[in-house]
Amino acid sequence: MMSARVLLSVVLALTLYGVLAVWRYFSKPKILALDFSDVTPFPGLDASKTLPFPYRPFRAGRYTMTMGIRKMPEDDWLVIDNLYKQEQELRRHLLKTDRDGVMQCLPGAEEACKEALQAIVDFVTRRFPSHFYLLKDKPGHIYNAITDRTFKIAEPLQQNPLEIGAQLVMEDINLLIQGVGEQPNEYYLQASYSMAPAGWYIQERIGWPLWRIHHPVPMWNEKLKKPMEKFFLGLKVSSPVQRNNYFMQMDDTMFQQEPFPDSLPHPPKIENIRIRHERQTLRRLPRTRAVMFMVRTYLTPVIDLKDEKDNLWAFREAVNAWPPEMAKYKGRHVWGEVFGEWCQKVLCGYIPEEESGDERTKALGAA
Ligand code: HEM
Repeated sequence: MMSARVLLSVVLALTLYGVLAVWRYFSKPKILALDFSDVTPFPGLDASKTLPFPYRPFRAGRYTMTMGIRKMPEDDWLVIDNLYKQEQELRRHLLKTDRDGVMQCLPGAEEACKEALQAIVDFVTRRFPSHFYLLKDKPGHIYNAITDRTFKIAEPLQQNPLEIGAQLVMEDINLLIQGVGEQPNEYYLQASYSMAPAGWYIQERIGWPLWRIHHPVPMWNEKLKKPMEKFFLGLKVSSPVQRNNYFMQMDDTMFQQEPFPDSLPHPPKIENIRIRHERQTLRRLPRTRAVMFMVRTYLTPVIDLKDEKDNLWAFREAVNAWPPEMAKYKGRHVWGEVFGEWCQKVLCGYIPEEESGDERTKALGAA
């Protein structure tokens, strides 16, 4: 039998341990904002001449469904290229003509929206100092030299912070918050500026948990639900990630709310087929703990790949390797034949020297 003395020592030791743990937790310096002091300034960027980065997000070989995330170099969080001005015009047009369709912020997400704007302002003024700067003669305002517009970023704000953020960057902005619905461990979409939804209405999906947003995605439940839930719960402020994905589309519509058509009256023309690909980044905001999910969408004509035989070959192999449910989801029955015939003509039996050699496509962002 344990003597009363030993028992008392154990209780005392445990209490001391508990007190120390609590003290350590509360005395840890809290990170209140993302730190971009290591980001390399890029003052020489020419926003009118820089071409969109040529992501080629496909890889030959057996189809496996994975999260496809990789580390994101901090310098690359937000990007600028020569489509900036035209896409900003579309952003402003949508805010005027279809505000609810492009922008949503649920009650309770206001602080996360403010924190997201702060992060965007801190990043763009550091990374692109010749295009974005805080006005000395107008404190609390940022100037966007590409669009020649000024935005008030100090309280009280005149617009929703996401609306301002969207007029600084090329990416769509989504904020997800843990436990604000039925499940304490689930992440719920609470705010979004989405100029480029890939076949969905933000008014409908706002407030939904991740699993419900991904309901139409085949194999989601079996392959991605668990790893994604784990990933979201464990995402660290210091470890932002990126991933790429793609759909196919038969025109140049960016603001694509309706699902992609399941059939067409005539087969599409190869010159109209677009690879609708996204570069997505995920990071945690330190103050509100919201997850910030940014999405840049590119519409690349398939025929742009005519001189990139290795990439085209990998692309065709990837498309052919889709299991039937994924092929149906991505509409291969609508465009696959036209695409396949064109590939056949361009490739003429071409096989890359290193058949397994997708190192190049991998480096360019294969998911
Ligand atoms: C690590 C994080 C994520 C992974 C691994 C992931 C994965 C996927 C996959 C595999 C698809 C099917 C299309 C494709 O890529 O082939 C998809 C579609 C989609 N994802 Fe995600 N996703 C992630 C995060 C998010 C987040 C945070 C949102 C919140 C807005 C989101 C919204 C969507 C939507 C709206 C679709 C289209 C669904 C449809 O067809 O209706 N995803 N995602």
